Amino acid sequence: MPELDWNKAVFDGNYDWRQGGEEWSAPWGGSEAQWFGSLYPRLHRLLPAGRILEIAPGFGRWTKFLIPACADYLGVDLAAACVNACRTRFARASHARFVQNDGFSLDAVPDGSIDFVFSFDSLVHAEIDVFRTYIPQLLRKLAPSGMAFLHHSNLKGFDNPESAPHHERARSVSGREVGNLIAQSGGQVVIQEWITWDGVGPIDCLTTFGRAGVNGDKKAVQLVNVKFMDEAAAIRDFQRPYCDIK
Ligand SMILES: C[S@@+](CC[C@H](N)C(=O)[O-])C[C@H]1O[C@@H](n2cnc3c(N)ncnc32)[C@H](O)[C@@H]1O
Repeated sequence: MPELDWNKAVFDGNYDWRQGGEEWSAPWGGSEAQWFGSLYPRLHRLLPAGRILEIAPGFGRWTKFLIPACADYLGVDLAAACVNACRTRFARASHARFVQNDGFSLDAVPDGSIDFVFSFDSLVHAEIDVFRTYIPQLLRKLAPSGMAFLHHSNLKGFDNPESAPHHERARSVSGREVGNLIAQSGGQVVIQEWITWDGVGPIDCLTTFGRAGVNGDKKAVQLVNVKFMDEAAAIRDFQRPYCDIK
């Protein structure tokens, strides 16, 4: 059960960060191929953005793509090790700031200021208590036309969570529940994509949302993508070689 203490103990403690998280991009052939082949195609309508908030940047695997795509960047992570690593790594980016939080509070972020919120491969380990605090805050932090993209667990919504190898996914979170929390907090879901992870079924979900009215009166799009890891393999085999072009 990855509670906040588990996240802190692992990512601010015993995790071997020598590869900076690049090891998690292996199925896509690296973070560059994963960003341009998998993440950017889902985000290209939202980038570049004026002000970006990244929740849980870790050692900056996605931060290196987000910083050049905005005028102002803020990264919030509960691990001092990660905040310090990012401060060092991105020291030359004068429009980027990193702050440590307690895993719940976004007090460091001014209300109504954020055009794009991004979090990938981090909040899959966050239980529902984190979403109950983050989602209402995020809706306050977003600018009226701002949008958030969160990657989170769907283990609670997965057919057979007990038998699944669950990759430390949070057991108390489902895509449906995160969608309900957004609606109850005065937000609007734009797209939810349930995705497979590493050969397991759809244990994760990508939720894109904003304030009420951000997408007019359009109904939320719901996608169940059981080919997410097939997509990763295709990116690794047919896009990654292009990352070697000088
Ligand atoms: C698996 S690492 C991923 C880091 C980065 N997103 C990446 O993909 O390389 C998880 C990160 O989430 C952070 N984290 C976990 N729960 C958090 C929370 N509730 N608020 C802020 N950071 C959190 C950890 O400190 C760690 O940096």
